Amino acid sequence: MLLEKANLLVIDDEEIVRNSCTKILTEEGHVVRGAENGDQGLNVFKEFHPDLVLIDLKMPGKSGMEVLEELESADPDVVKIVITGYATVSSALDAMKRGAYDFIPKPFSPDELVLVVTRGLEKRRLLMEKKALLIGQEKIRRNMVSLVSHELRAPIAATVQYLEVILEGVAGEVSSEAEELIHRCDERLREMLELINKWINLAVFDPIKLAEHFEDVNLSEMALKSMELLKSSADKKKVRLSLEAQKNVPVIAGSKICLEEVFNNLIGNAIKYNRKKGRVAVKIYEQGNDVCFEVNDNGIGIEKENLPRIFDEFYRVDGRRTSPIQGSGLGLAIVKTMVDAHGGAISVDSRFGDGTSFKIRLPKVIHLEKGS
Ligand SMILES: Nc1ncnc2c1ncn2[C@@H]1O[C@H](COP(=O)(O)OP(=O)(O)OP(=O)(O)O)[C@@H](O)[C@H]1O
Ligand SMILES: [Mg+2]
Repeated sequence: MLLEKANLLVIDDEEIVRNSCTKILTEEGHVVRGAENGDQGLNVFKEFHPDLVLIDLKMPGKSGMEVLEELESADPDVVKIVITGYATVSSALDAMKRGAYDFIPKPFSPDELVLVVTRGLEKRRLLMEKKALLIGQEKIRRNMVSLVSHELRAPIAATVQYLEVILEGVAGEVSSEAEELIHRCDERLREMLELINKWINLAVFDPIKLAEHFEDVNLSEMALKSMELLKSSADKKKVRLSLEAQKNVPVIAGSKICLEEVFNNLIGNAIKYNRKKGRVAVKIYEQGNDVCFEVNDNGIGIEKENLPRIFDEFYRVDGRRTSPIQGSGLGLAIVKTMVDAHGGAISVDSRFGDGTSFKIRLPKVIHLEKGS
C-alpha cells in the first residue's frame, strides 16, 4: 500500500519547476506546496509537515545542501529528494551521504518525477510502519512495567507487612513452628520482591540519562570493592579470589553504581558457578583506546550451544549442574545493558567443565593536554 495522499514540499527558486512539479504531483492525488528559497522552505516545512521534500541543490541564498542538513536534523523520517543540474551528480552523491534518499537530475519528465516520488513515498511508508512498531513495543513494555510494579510488587509488599504483624502477635500467640514457617514465607517473598525490582530497574533503564552523570572511574578500585563484598561467599566455597591490575591504568568515563553491578554480577557468578576450592582471577589492563577487565574462573563452564543465550533476560543454563544454584537469570542481561550504556563490549569464552572467562572493554577517558 502506498501513501495515496501525501503532503509534498518543493523547494526550488525556478518558478517553472515549482509549478510543473505542483501540477504533475497534484494530478497524482497529493497535496503540494512550493517554496522559492531555503528559508521559506524551512518555514513551510514546520507548519505543513510534509511526508517528502524535493530540494533544488542550486539556489541563491541558503544552499540546497544546508537546507537538506537542517531538514535531516529536524526530522530524519521525512524523505528528502534532491534536484540536481546535469553537472552536479557528485554533489547528488554528497547529498545522499547527508540524508537525501534519492536524486533527480534536471530537466526531468513527468514520468521520471512520479517514479522518484513514488519510490520516496514507499520509503516513507516503511519508515512510518517501523516507527509505529517501535511505539507499540515501547507501549507494551511500559504497560508491562506498570503491571508488574502495581499488580505484583504492591501485593507482595503488603503480604510481607501482614506477616510482620502476625509475628508481632497482634492476631494471637504464634507457635514456634508457625513462626519458623512465617519466616520462610517472608524470605521467599523478599526474594521475589528483589527479582521484581531488578527487572523493573532494567526495563526502565535509560542510557542517555545515565551518560549525563558519568564521572571518572578507576576500575581497579571498583574491582577491589566488589571482591571485598563477595569475599564471604567465596570463603564459604573456599574459592580463591585474586586481582592482577596493571599500574596506573587510565580511568574510564562511567557510572560507579552501574559498574559496581557489573563487577558484582560477574565475580558473583564466577564464585557461584565454581567448584569447591576453585579460583577466580580478575585482570585489569589497558589495550589501545580501551581499559579491559577480565573475570576468569575454573568453575563448571558453559556448553557451547548455551553461550549465545546467557545474556538474555531470565535465561539460565538448564541442567543438573546449575539447577541447585539460586538465580533469576537477570544478572548477565543487566551486565550487558550496563556495558552497552558505557559504549563498551563484552565477550565470553568458556569450556564446559573447565571454566569461563568474561572480557569487558570500556573506552578510556582521553584527557587533552592544556592548549591542544
Ligand atoms: N561464570 C560462570 N560459569 C558458569 N556458568 C555461568 C557463569 N556465569 C553465568 N553462567 C550461566 O549463565 C546463566 C545466566 O547468568 P545470569 O548471571 O544472567 O543469571 P543467574 O546467575 O542465573 O541469576 P542472577 O544473576 O539474576 O541471580 C546462569 O544461570 C549460569 O547458568
Ligand atoms: Mg548471576
